[in-house]
Formats: sequence, C-alpha cells, structure tokens
Amino acid sequence: MTQTTAPLTQTSAQRTATPRHYLMCPPTYFDVVYAINPWMDPSSPVDTAKALAQWEALRAAYEARGHRVDVIEPEPGLPDMVYAANGGIVVGGRALAARFTFPERAAEGPAYDRWFDTPEAEGYRRLGEAVETMEGEGDLLLIGKLLLAGTGFRTTPAGHTEVAERLELAEQGIELVPLELVDPRYYHLDTALSVLDDGAVSGETVVAYYPEAFSPAAQETLRRLFPDAILVGAEDAAVLGLNVVSDGLHVFLSDRARDYADALKERGFVPVGVDLSEIFKGGGSVKCCTLELRPAADDAASPLA
Ligand code: ARG
Repeated sequence: MTQTTAPLTQTSAQRTATPRHYLMCPPTYFDVVYAINPWMDPSSPVDTAKALAQWEALRAAYEARGHRVDVIEPEPGLPDMVYAANGGIVVGGRALAARFTFPERAAEGPAYDRWFDTPEAEGYRRLGEAVETMEGEGDLLLIGKLLLAGTGFRTTPAGHTEVAERLELAEQGIELVPLELVDPRYYHLDTALSVLDDGAVSGETVVAYYPEAFSPAAQETLRRLFPDAILVGAEDAAVLGLNVVSDGLHVFLSDRARDYADALKERGFVPVGVDLSEIFKGGGSVKCCTLELRPAADDAASPLA
C-alpha cells in the first residue's frame, strides 16, 4: 500500500484557542446622531432594541467559547460608547485610556479609565487617560511582540510615542510599528487589518488586511512583516469584514464577509459569523465592540482544552 503524505502548506499550522478577557459595552444608548466617519448617516434610523439583541448574541458567542466578558456601564449621551475597542489599550496588565479625536466622544476616555478602578478590573494597572490623541485598540493591535499602530485619521504619531512610553513597550520587548491609513472609510486600523494568530501556540503569525487602505510605505511594511498574510478584497472590506476578533482558532466576524470566511477556513481557522447590522450603522463591527484585556505576563493563560 502506498502512503500519501500531505504537502506542507500554509494550512498545516495547528490553530489553538486561548482564553481571553474582553470588555464590552451594551448599546443601550446607541444611535447615529452625528457623523464622524463616512459610514454614519444621522438621517437613517437605528433600531436600538435590535442592536442590543445583536450585541447580546456576540457576547454569548464569546462566552460559549470559554472567554470571559466583563461589561462597562453605558452612559446616556455617549452613543458610540458601544465601540469598546476605542476605550483604551491594555498590554501586560497596564491599562491606558483613550483620548478621542472628536469632542462627541471625549467623555468616553474618562468613562473607560474609571472602569479600571472597579473590582472586575483587578489585576490591571490603571494608568489614566492618554494626553495625546489615541483611540485605543481601534488603532493599536498587538500581535506577539509587535504593536501595529495605525495613524492618519485618528491616533497621532505623538499618541504612538505616548503609548510606547506609558505602556513601557520596550521593557516588555514589544516594538511599535506605525502604519499609515489613507482611505477615510478605513479610519481605524481595526477596520483594515485583522490579527488572527499571534503565533504563541502555532508558531505562525497570521494577519489579514485590505492593502488599498494603507499608504505605499505601510503596504511595504506589511508585506515585509507578514509575507503570508490573507489579502482581503474590496467587497469584504466594505462590510467591515476585517473588523474581527480572533482567539487563535475562532474568528468572530461579520456574516456578510463570505470570501474572507472561506479564506479563514483554508488557513485552519473556524469563522463564527455574527450579524451586527445595526451597530454597523455607526461604522463598526465585531472588533470595535470588543476591548481585549491582557494580563501581566505572569498571569497569562494556557490554551483552552
Ligand atoms: N462611530 C465610531 C467612530 O467613528 C465608530 C468607531 C468604531 N470602532 C472601531 N474600533 N473601529 O469613532
């Protein structure tokens, strides 16, 4: 009998889920009453009850896969507070709250900062709010020892510098990689790039991105750092398909991003499609609704069974 050996391809990496800690904010006061990105149209109505149901389903999808979800109290008058990813950045147990570009969202920075003083936030060191413009995980995506840092529309280069200093990135062995965004529809890094696998377990770092959202120099940087990246097309980008959360195995993403979901399967991931059609009206999707809280290295978790 002849034995066939499967060719070693990009698909051979073993994907493994690791348990995560997420902070989310229910869309209790979600609405589109101003337009600070091209997706927002204040004249088109928002169904808040539907937004809440969709958000609950996302939260349940995380919990069903063993992830811990904490919830921050939504505040009236802050319709974008549902986009928890923008509230700050937490790396190595250090939590720095955001400083928003637009006055409409300014009060969200202190709200997220205060959360780090609650009992649920035990184990995270509260560093306060950023002084420079910095929109949290909207623009700052950690992958292993790299912090990918978007700029161009929201977070500024001065914001990057402040993040590197206050989160003590060098001491943690983390390098900040600035990436310039050029298309106003993809105003935050997390609308144009997904972190899928940090390589901690699989040994293979994987990202996906929409190249046209980046400046030529940023595209060059991405090609150099991630030669095997999944390149996502205009159609999937335009449903904010790249705005995903990955636990290393499951990739939670918009159920509208069909080709991207197929590409994920080919690379050994398990896409989990979710419907966030109401929350999409504010210009965000799965990742926008999710702030990842990363404990200090010595508190880090081992893979999910
Ligand atoms: N309306 C919000 C804004 O323009 C949406 C933020 C989406 N969040 C994200 N992580 N991309 O600021």
